[in-house]
Amino acid sequence: MSRDGIERPGAQEWVPSGGGLDSLRTAARDCRGCELYGPATQTVFSKGSELARVLLVGEQPGDQEDRRGEPFVGPAGRLLHQALGEAGIDPQDCYVTNAVKHFRFTPTPKRRLHRTPDVIHVEACRPWLSAEMALLDPEVTVCLGATATRAVLGPSARVLRDRGQLFPREAPPGEPAMRRAAWTTVTVHPSAVLRADDRDTAQAAFVADLRVVAAALAPAG
Ligand code: URA
Ligand code: SF4
Repeated sequence: MSRDGIERPGAQEWVPSGGGLDSLRTAARDCRGCELYGPATQTVFSKGSELARVLLVGEQPGDQEDRRGEPFVGPAGRLLHQALGEAGIDPQDCYVTNAVKHFRFTPTPKRRLHRTPDVIHVEACRPWLSAEMALLDPEVTVCLGATATRAVLGPSARVLRDRGQLFPREAPPGEPAMRRAAWTTVTVHPSAVLRADDRDTAQAAFVADLRVVAAALAPAG
């Protein structure tokens, strides 16, 4: 969808050129780049500073994120923050965002059921993620689950095959030259840990992947 009424999904026309994170955050409130803005409460943009050393990319906001307007504040977020702590990653060093910035759900009488975004939603929302990635200069980018992995690394990456490995991050075309050595890595989504039959084992493996991130961070200072 676009302002001229032609079916052409995509956030691009809402993304301001120039400006920092604040201008992105403000502009994203009005995005109509795909139909997901309609039933959702609000755009959930990101949390964290431009100076973050770790960029964490999730899938899309969940029910609580949609209500509160902040990423990873529901059950998956609590698990993520606990795992980051166990891995020795300082939350102050993290910037947290999602591949898709509106909550996609199926309404039911009792609750709004999470619905995985389609490729078309990830593609429509990509201009926001690209703009964030162009502003930040993280040492490690962490893709949480399949949607984020696909959004950042493309369709050939595989979460279970590639998890816990560090891939050199190249500056995409149009992105300013990177100021520091940078890596991209992949792990499962914290919601998958919450759903796992063997929760303790799944959580330990998730923390192990995040320890790889912690080890890749050059000592601060
Ligand atoms: N799951 C996500 O992928 N992102 C959030 O912000 C919350 C849950
Ligand atoms: Fe815009 Fe992304 Fe929301 Fe779609 S999901 S309306 S592209 S911010």
